[in-house]
Amino acid sequence: MLETENFTHVIAHISDTHLLGGKRKLFSTVDVAHNLTRILDRLRAGDQRIDALIFTGDLADIAEVDAYRWLRDHVEPVAAELGAELVWVMGNHDERPAYSRELFDDESDTVQDRVYNVGGLRIISLDTSVPGYHHGAVTDAQLQWLAGELATPAGRGTLLAMHHPPLEAHNPLVRLIGLEQRSRLAEVIAGTDVRTILAGHLHYSSFGQFAGVPVSVASATCYTVDVGADKSLLLSAVDGAQSINLVHVYESDIVHSIVPVENYEQVAGYPAALRAMAETMSEAEIREMVSNKNSDFNTAEREQSADLA
Ligand SMILES: [Fe+2]
Ligand SMILES: [Fe+2]
Repeated sequence: MLETENFTHVIAHISDTHLLGGKRKLFSTVDVAHNLTRILDRLRAGDQRIDALIFTGDLADIAEVDAYRWLRDHVEPVAAELGAELVWVMGNHDERPAYSRELFDDESDTVQDRVYNVGGLRIISLDTSVPGYHHGAVTDAQLQWLAGELATPAGRGTLLAMHHPPLEAHNPLVRLIGLEQRSRLAEVIAGTDVRTILAGHLHYSSFGQFAGVPVSVASATCYTVDVGADKSLLLSAVDGAQSINLVHVYESDIVHSIVPVENYEQVAGYPAALRAMAETMSEAEIREMVSNKNSDFNTAEREQSADLA
């Protein structure tokens, strides 16, 4: 049979929703509420188990109460339906008082760090926002708190979720609003059970390493930054290529996969009914069918793809 669940956790990593109150469009053209609804619908329609939904910041574009309420009203029921933990993270476009009140029913204007335990996997939501600014920072008090938290390893390790990626940025504008004094954070993380860092802020998918820990930056569901823009542009934001990431956590590996917000036209594929067929076959038979280039299964597929060409 086809083994379907060889992982311990699946996380939907969503970032930079930039919602506006009254479902207004961003730049008067980008239907940000629709984009988020669409990806939530895709997650609900998928056969993928989701253990946590992590939103890595810039939830609301200008921190409007309406935007947070819409977000909560539309995401909480989906998290409940999926049986997923819901993890919010502060971004530079968010404001602590509205974020705390509208998403956590907590009147607070202080730093918004929180810790979750999802089946032994610790998820830390770290607030890298600096009130009144777009760049990011982590205070001494936060570093001390984080070190204290990480002093005790979690059963299945830790995912650190933060808005500003702790990575170099090649774009000079992006660099100006990056995370300050990264080395101090590196000292706290190095040698701990942090297995991966999830971030946002860039509006394009990006990957790196920080303090020996892999970093994955999810793109945005609102608009994206076209890293391939021509030299006449210092930075180009476009209404396309929006995506989220699915994070598969295994005993010893973590794998990040990009999922488009848009539904594209299918050119080839296999129906889920193939699973039922596989139920009657041994593992060796399935491997032969799928992997052998000359199996009936692959010969038929080759003929089909040639027809399409
Ligand atoms: Fe953003
Ligand atoms: Fe941001």
